[in-house]
Amino acid sequence: KLEKVWLMIGVMTLIAFLSTVGYQAFASGHAPPSDLTKLDPEKVEETPPFDEPGLHQIGDNEYELIMVLQSFGFTPNKVEIPQGATVKFIVTSVDVVHGFEIAGTRVNMMVTPGHVNSMTYKFNEKGEYLILCNEYCGIGHHMMSAELEVK
Ligand code: CUA
Repeated sequence: KLEKVWLMIGVMTLIAFLSTVGYQAFASGHAPPSDLTKLDPEKVEETPPFDEPGLHQIGDNEYELIMVLQSFGFTPNKVEIPQGATVKFIVTSVDVVHGFEIAGTRVNMMVTPGHVNSMTYKFNEKGEYLILCNEYCGIGHHMMSAELEVK
């Protein structure tokens, strides 16, 4: 008998949880980029935030860098940020699986079409950083790179 009560509580909790999640998804129809995890790879260019790739300041020396990966390049492929900047990289691919690695940092992501991946990193040191594709994606794979300059 007591088990039934616990089971009911469990079910109720689950329902409450699911409806909260469902409501939040609905309520934020204009979902912030951080909550965006899936998208139609064919509509990347018209799906925020990827309709405006590039660097966007979101706070005091805090940025979001929206990047689109496509064989065999990054858009944008040259970015400058100030020293000490915290950058949230928000990336997706429009075609095949690519990699997003910033040499000399712990930033390393797999970039899959239909998915949004993100990672945040603080650049304390000045210098030129190389962004590389580290997933074999075709004959131009070895040329696929971008530059990030911390000045
Ligand atoms: Cu893109 Cu390798």
